[in-house]
Amino acid sequence: MHYLVTGHTGFKGAWLAMWLASEGHQVSGLALDPIPGALFEQANVSNVLKHDLRGDIRDLAVVQNALATTQPDVVFHLAAQPLVRESYQDPRGTIETNVIGTMNLLSAVAETPSVKAHIVITTDKVYKNIDQIWGYKEIDPLGGDDPYSASKAMADILTQSWIKSFGGPSTAIARAGNVIGGGDVSKDRLFPDLLNAYLSGQAPVLRYPGAVRPWQHVLDCLNGYLKLSEALLKGNGQGEWNFGPETSSFVNVGDVATYVKEIIGESAPNWTTTGEPQPHEANLLALDARKAELELNWHNKLSFKESLKWTVDWQVAVNGGESASEVCHRQLQNFTQVS
Ligand SMILES: NC(=O)c1ccc[n+]([C@@H]2O[C@H](COP(=O)([O-])OP(=O)(O)OC[C@H]3O[C@@H](n4cnc5c(N)ncnc54)[C@H](O)[C@@H]3O)[C@@H](O)[C@H]2O)c1
Repeated sequence: MHYLVTGHTGFKGAWLAMWLASEGHQVSGLALDPIPGALFEQANVSNVLKHDLRGDIRDLAVVQNALATTQPDVVFHLAAQPLVRESYQDPRGTIETNVIGTMNLLSAVAETPSVKAHIVITTDKVYKNIDQIWGYKEIDPLGGDDPYSASKAMADILTQSWIKSFGGPSTAIARAGNVIGGGDVSKDRLFPDLLNAYLSGQAPVLRYPGAVRPWQHVLDCLNGYLKLSEALLKGNGQGEWNFGPETSSFVNVGDVATYVKEIIGESAPNWTTTGEPQPHEANLLALDARKAELELNWHNKLSFKESLKWTVDWQVAVNGGESASEVCHRQLQNFTQVS
């Protein structure tokens, strides 16, 4: 089977490409160049790729060329501008990449007969956030108060409408929340900032210590995407799917920082918080993933604390001199052995 992963130079895309290749599949990618120090570079992901294509998904010709060159069986569309704060600074670029880029994928995929399954990755932030304490279900209304969330809700609605209007291969939308795991170097995400600060002996500064988020290991999230692609290849699974963690993983940012400090050791300094006003970010987001549990036989294999531990262990092993690629492969192998 040949998989095309858009966004393969990013955090989730690099893990997904390594996972698929480790199972013996052919993998190609389309994305912008990786940011310096990205997991893609650290783990030499280009070595496992058939085609490592670089280009901007806002350009339809680039996307059409990628599909024509690779002729994949399955497309995972992850490429996006994925940061809320960046979306306030560049709303146009965010909307062009996340919405027009998704439309380019949908149209190029529809013109490529080899494609049997297409999975479009959106986010938990597509839901109209009414600060409810129970999880959002796939049938709940979409919304988006900030430009990133709005752009992803638009991409989600666009995908649904495109399939209804123009058809195409078996297509599904996967919505997941914050993921953590080894090798995330994105700016503005809690985990890279937290680990960098702790491992260099500095006190992490938290923007929203009280904000509750669902925390999930990247491999649990990707396992959901993979189960979804298997279902699509069997002719099932079209539609929208949540892949969120259990309620016990809905933990506030301050407590996450405290748990990580416990894993690293008491010598790590205590976290602090900033008093500066920050742009609005949704306060509580929980997903109800029972549909995926019941119909795809998917569940989170790692608990909240195991997810934190795997993430810290990854960084400690790499800081200790082990190659990032080896650590990723060891964690991938260990993950498949967890029931
Ligand atoms: N990481 C999370 O916690 C999280 C949570 C919910 C949803 N998501 C979604 O998962 C997907 C992957 O996120 P990630 O964390 O790996 O992000 P990332 O920033 O690490 O990677 C983004 C990828 O998209 C590519 N990209 C960005 N703009 C592009 C453009 N104009 N043309 C071509 N490629 C472009 C980048 O080159 C990179 O490969 C995104 O769709 C994101 O919205 C991520």
